[in-house]
Amino acid sequence: MLRSLALILALLLTGMMGARAEDSSQQAFDRDAQAAIKELATSLKSSLMAAMNDGGPAEAVSVCNLIAPSLAAEISKKYGLEIGRTSLKVRNPANEADAWETDVLQRFETRLASGEAIQKLTFKEKVDSESGSQWRMMKAIPTDKVCLSCHGKKIAEPIQARIEAHYPDDLATGFKLGDIRGAFTVKRDIVD
Ligand code: HEC
Repeated sequence: MLRSLALILALLLTGMMGARAEDSSQQAFDRDAQAAIKELATSLKSSLMAAMNDGGPAEAVSVCNLIAPSLAAEISKKYGLEIGRTSLKVRNPANEADAWETDVLQRFETRLASGEAIQKLTFKEKVDSESGSQWRMMKAIPTDKVCLSCHGKKIAEPIQARIEAHYPDDLATGFKLGDIRGAFTVKRDIVD
């Protein structure tokens, strides 16, 4: 009797400890993912503005092409996760959304259409797959005025030429102010 009571207690305790470990790994992910998104958003915007001021938007296409992926890699390493950008209509095919991301982006569109503020469009989830479990988070990226010269409906000829040279399969035009341009996407493997 006593022995089975002790066994039940031990089982309960390990269960609680497991739950607590998961809590703290989730909290660490939340904190790091939010910081990484903030840092990538800020550094992308300042490199974009600097490039636009220096050489104009046509020049900035080449800068985006080089800088965006390397900034994402640097920040991923710093926070021990994987951060990038994706969209339902990508410019760089390397940024193409996987099934989970496509689903979240579609739900962001529905949430926006039903009146939710674009700045509030975030989603996170623990995702289990055959290769293991991951924490994943996405945050929508709004289309600002400054984005339209490269992602809008009317793109000036010299910019269009640069875009086509780097991205023959570009899908990322035709956006208007306030549209969801895409989203930051973050993941981290959960190691037991
Ligand atoms: C000077 C042209 C230019 C401007 C202005 C610009 N972008 Fe882009 N954008 C690009 C290029 C080039 C890429 C592809 C980068 C790469 O190869 O990863 C890109 C890629 C992206 C992606 C990644 C998904 C994809 O389509 O491959 C997002 C999201 C994005 N831009 C959002 C924005 C937002 C938001 C703004 C305004 C704040 C903006 N862009 C302004 C040129 C531009």
